[in-house]
Amino acid sequence: MAGYRNVVIIGLGYVGLPLAQEAVRAGLHVTGLDVKRATVDGLNGGRTHVDDLTDADIAAMVAGGFRATTDVSACGDPDVIVICVPTPLSESDGPDLTAVRAATETAGKLLKAGTLVVLESTTYPGTTDEVIRPMLEKASGLTAGIGFHLAFSPERIDPGNPVYGFRNTPKIVGGVTAACTEAAAAFYAHTCDTVVRAKSAREAEMAKLLENTYRHVNIALVNEMAIFCHELGVDLWDAIRCAQTKPFGFQPFYPGPGVGGHCIPIDPNYLSYKVRTELSYPFRFVELAQEINTRMPGYVVDRAAELLNTDAKPLNGAKVLLLGVTYKQDVADQRESPARPIARKLLQRGAELSFHDPFVRSWQVDGRDIPRAAAPTAPADLTILLQAHGGYDLADIAAHAHLLFDTRGKSSGDRVSRL
Ligand SMILES: NC(=O)c1ccc[n+]([C@@H]2O[C@H](COP(=O)([O-])OP(=O)(O)OC[C@H]3O[C@@H](n4cnc5c(N)ncnc54)[C@H](O)[C@@H]3O)[C@@H](O)[C@H]2O)c1
Repeated sequence: MAGYRNVVIIGLGYVGLPLAQEAVRAGLHVTGLDVKRATVDGLNGGRTHVDDLTDADIAAMVAGGFRATTDVSACGDPDVIVICVPTPLSESDGPDLTAVRAATETAGKLLKAGTLVVLESTTYPGTTDEVIRPMLEKASGLTAGIGFHLAFSPERIDPGNPVYGFRNTPKIVGGVTAACTEAAAAFYAHTCDTVVRAKSAREAEMAKLLENTYRHVNIALVNEMAIFCHELGVDLWDAIRCAQTKPFGFQPFYPGPGVGGHCIPIDPNYLSYKVRTELSYPFRFVELAQEINTRMPGYVVDRAAELLNTDAKPLNGAKVLLLGVTYKQDVADQRESPARPIARKLLQRGAELSFHDPFVRSWQVDGRDIPRAAAPTAPADLTILLQAHGGYDLADIAAHAHLLFDTRGKSSGDRVSRL
């Protein structure tokens, strides 16, 4: 474990900041590099911009020596460089590696003999070896595994999870050589209780995509089942409750209005992209799951129209209140939230939309401001529960709603319909 002292983390978001926090706690000297001046100024001023860290956490990091900067020359002489920048989807549905390449160029400037470079950004198998390695070798004139170390270590942050954080979630590491794996394992032993060694960087990259594809496919399975269970008159949530009493071989997944967040709707595409472009055949499970999950917002809107119809009301002109517009329960993150396509479709069909979310003050859809209701029990022709935030009193909402469409299967009552 000896030898690591100065750490530079490139990209100070949902992934980079929890790592920086644990590294500071472990007594390492941590500098964070980001391209956004406002992010850097905020952090140095003790202000957070991610759900999982409070202002007090950031202030404690700063007191522990953490500094954020936009300036590469202020990064000192790092022993470890960790890349945590975004990998959004490109136009062709593959990963857009623009930020990863830019961060790798930056890492190349800081690289010296013996430095460990780790990529944490989610990407397709082969990226670390085929994209990062040649860039770093060219920039430094050194060879990976001999002159410097290079590894992939997938981030497993689960925003809002009160039990599993950075330290107690096992950390997978896979180097481009065995020596690189050991170097990365030695570094993460400072910050994580358990380090798991992959055979190489490719297996570490694949492990992350397997985890998220597994969730994506299983959510699609229950979403498709929810649609026909509704028609068959079967309560799928009750069936899941019963199935989960099996003490082995079953893990519950729940239907919902669509998948959101940065990982589940996006990461499996990296894998299907790799299979399609390199092997010329489709990854059918992912493509089917994608098709089912992306159709859920449309299904929610059709069901909303059907419900209003039972009340002799057209969707056109109906007052519809959306509850919970973030992608996940009890977080403020709205990335890829299915609430947005649902709102878009409702607006297109003439609904008079409002929203309520304890985590969101103002909400825009396609540049249009959606009015915020004063309370989740505000009057509407139809209330749609999209995210069952912990602060919501679901019984009170069900008692006050004229009609409640619960896409999370958590409410009951005469005027309540479930997905
Ligand atoms: N958010 C999650 O829950 C989560 C979980 C697992 C994996 N990941 C993966 O981790 C990676 C980072 O995701 P995130 O959620 O932390 O993103 P984020 O948007 O919260 O943060 C990324 C940060 O990187 C900065 N940045 C962009 N380009 C840069 C550059 N060239 N140099 C320096 N900084 C740069 C941005 O300004 C931003 O502050 C992605 O690949 C994502 O798929 C995210």
